[in-house]
Amino acid sequence: MWYLVLCTIAIVTIILTQWVYSWRNPRCNGRLPPGSMGFPILGETLQFFSSNISSDVPPFIKKRMEKYGSLFRTSLVGWPVVISTDPELSRFIIQQEGKLFRSWYMDSFDDIVGRQNVLSVHGVLHKYLKNLILNLFGPESLRQRLLPEVEETTRQHLQLWSSQASVEVKEAIANMIFDFTAKKLISYEEAKSSEKLRENYAAFLDGLISFPLNIPGTSYHKCLQGRKKALRILKNMLHERRASPRQRVDFLDLIVEELEKDDTILTEGIAIDLLFALPFATYETTSTALTLAIQFLGDHPSALAELTKEHEAILRTREDVDSGITWKEYKSMNFTVMVINETIRLANIVPGIFRKALRDVEIKGYTIPAGWAVIVCPPAVHLNPAEYDDPLAFNPWRWKELELNSGSKNFMGFGGGVRLCVGAEFVKLQMAIFLHHLVTKYR
Ligand code: HEM
Ligand SMILES: *[C@@H]1O[C@H](CO)[C@@H](O)[C@H](O)[C@H]1NC(C)=O
Ligand SMILES: *[C@@H]1O[C@H](CO)[C@@H](O)[C@H](O)[C@H]1NC(C)=O
Ligand SMILES: *[C@@H]1O[C@H](CO)[C@@H](O)[C@H](O)[C@H]1NC(C)=O
Repeated sequence: MWYLVLCTIAIVTIILTQWVYSWRNPRCNGRLPPGSMGFPILGETLQFFSSNISSDVPPFIKKRMEKYGSLFRTSLVGWPVVISTDPELSRFIIQQEGKLFRSWYMDSFDDIVGRQNVLSVHGVLHKYLKNLILNLFGPESLRQRLLPEVEETTRQHLQLWSSQASVEVKEAIANMIFDFTAKKLISYEEAKSSEKLRENYAAFLDGLISFPLNIPGTSYHKCLQGRKKALRILKNMLHERRASPRQRVDFLDLIVEELEKDDTILTEGIAIDLLFALPFATYETTSTALTLAIQFLGDHPSALAELTKEHEAILRTREDVDSGITWKEYKSMNFTVMVINETIRLANIVPGIFRKALRDVEIKGYTIPAGWAVIVCPPAVHLNPAEYDDPLAFNPWRWKELELNSGSKNFMGFGGGVRLCVGAEFVKLQMAIFLHHLVTKYR
């Protein structure tokens, strides 16, 4: 009897030990990057999500960089992961999209943004959706249509805020950009609509970067609930518009045109996911960047003075001071671009760019096994003291030299390669116009 019990315990122990051992030492045709896979199944998920928000590189990453170097392995929500904080390597991974790596966001991301969101589709469909978005947010559209519209919206909002006792800047800018985007996408106007779209979009970023636990009270749950309601509103709108098409005015009209084409690859489901995701992509990111820019300028009077000088010079050379910003004027805002670049560098709005290895990839003497997730960490690249002197300091002037010496190889605020952010030019335009009106008309 005793013998049997002892035997069982021994066998169970051996199996468990072996299982834990193989968990901690995954199979690999080569040398894995250093690091720890954490506890079986759980990995280092809890440590990852409990990491404090800070303006510096996230502590989870920083600690491991010190211990293992710029490339290390871990395990998050059940996936084996390699994290890259090395500038050159990160750039390589991003440039290899569709070849050695491809974009891959976790299931929780797809749950919130839709299975067929732009970031999670590949090949022909990806290219098609990207071009569709560029129709609205691309450089051509910015130059020909959006510039005066963005300016008018910005002017109105700043004027409104100046009559109020106080303004919650981040929230006010987010609302402004949400309204603008919703109007361009679906001619939606919150004030005139019975269906409140905006409230369904609350806490998006909180939900995206949270632990994917779908129970009441979590941000993840809130996001999913909001998604459900917003999708219903969008679906109704699309059906109504399809029933009575009209001259193209907004993005939805373009979608309806595309859906009616015989050989189209667009489906209603994909179209609705896209309409749902675009406001997300615009308002949280851009409002964070603009709010930080305002804070940085407030804290750095010399940068504010130089920026003001640039914009007052533009007004001085105009015939009519109240005529709108021209494309040529926009393109002459040299210092403004540096302020924007520096803000995006420090803001680190996108904490990780997610990829999956399509085959075994040998890199710097290590092997990333096929099927593993790879996370490029832009904050680590942007706050790298070897490339950026005094990396946490706001110093727009540094871009003058950076541009001459290294181009933008250490900058990946908008990603890169075929997945380069489609909204990057829109963000820069919105920021430049906002700053122009802020520094020339307000204190
Ligand atoms: C400061 C604001 C923004 C930042 C920092 C930002 C950052 C990024 C980054 C890093 C990526 C690459 C993701 C990857 O490679 O996996 C990306 C992709 C994307 N961004 Fe942005 N973005 C911003 C604003 C916007 C805006 C305003 C739009 C609106 C159109 C937008 C639409 C997109 C889309 C559709 C993609 C997917 C591109 C693709 O997969 O080909 N973004 N963004
Ligand atoms: C997070 O921040 C709090 C207070 O700001 C601090 O007490 C705590 O030690 C921090 N945790 C980590 C893991 O850095
Ligand atoms: C901005 O920079 C460009 C080239 O870098 C230069 O040609 C132009 O004169 C500059 N504009 C102003 C207003 O300084
Ligand atoms: C700002 O960053 C972009 C990359 O997004 C780069 O192409 C550009 O040269 C930078 N501008 C300046 C003035 O450094």
